[in-house]
Amino acid sequence: MKNILVIGATGQIGSELTMELRKRYGNEHVVAGYIFGAEPKGELATSGPSGIVNVTDRQSIEVAVKKYEIDTIYNLVALLSVVAESRPAMAWKIGIDGLWNVLEVTREYGCAVFTPSSIGSFGESTPHVKTPQDTVQRPRTMYGVTKVTTELLSDYYHTKYGVDTRAVRFPGIISNVTPPGGGTTDYAVDIYYSAVKGEKFICPVKAGTFMDMMYMPDAMNAAISLMEADPARLKHRNAFNIAAMSFDPELIYATIKKHVPGFEMIYEVDPLKQSIADSWPDSLDDTCAREEWDWEPQYDLESMTVDMLEKLKAKLNK
Ligand code: SER
Repeated sequence: MKNILVIGATGQIGSELTMELRKRYGNEHVVAGYIFGAEPKGELATSGPSGIVNVTDRQSIEVAVKKYEIDTIYNLVALLSVVAESRPAMAWKIGIDGLWNVLEVTREYGCAVFTPSSIGSFGESTPHVKTPQDTVQRPRTMYGVTKVTTELLSDYYHTKYGVDTRAVRFPGIISNVTPPGGGTTDYAVDIYYSAVKGEKFICPVKAGTFMDMMYMPDAMNAAISLMEADPARLKHRNAFNIAAMSFDPELIYATIKKHVPGFEMIYEVDPLKQSIADSWPDSLDDTCAREEWDWEPQYDLESMTVDMLEKLKAKLNK
């Protein structure tokens, strides 16, 4: 990777991944692509190049790729699961028409490309415990439909045109810089903000709802190590199961409460979020990622909680 373009650089993952890539490859080698209305701010804006890149406008991708001689793209744009249910056409337009544009540009200019998939690419008929790498993928959400299509289209461009497409299936990502928006797993971020602000947390999914989750540093490492992996070792490409921890609301609440003794949580179940969460795996089997590119997470629920609370206390002056 010499020159990298991050599309969706001001989103939850993009805002941190862009900075991490700049740290590793040099500020001037990492371009922050954003859309009008979601301009980069602070260090993200001042530390390196940026430009408007809208996946639904192929030319805007091409302009950035040519201008900065891009050889690697991280395509992070998507509508998350809950919001995609209320705007399915938009979710498709951004997720798939946009992906098509990105893939066409990468084919023409010979770039490698990472377009994440998700635990949302699985559905009710998928085995829920230790979900295998290769298994049934029949999701009923629009988010899931776009993610399965992302995997298939990315593999198609690899086998048909030799484009270097690679991806992981991200679990719920927990982070403290840019909040997620419109996802089913967002509660596991929101709960930390409530704990640090001294507010009672209203949990939108039931006790006993297990989902796979991951702390942002591990998620970034996964994306970068996969893109750096020796292609000769990769039997899979789009997309690898990766796992770090699986918990339900009771478990994350109990872990936070050890550090914030007065913290309270009540349940007010959101039926849409609950039905989406119920259709997703409880935990993924990430053996292939471990074998093919040495994937290994660093954070578990306890160590993530300690770090999240510390970072949020500093951020919120608490
Ligand atoms: N975090 C996503 C969501 O909840 C799942 O990949 O929609």
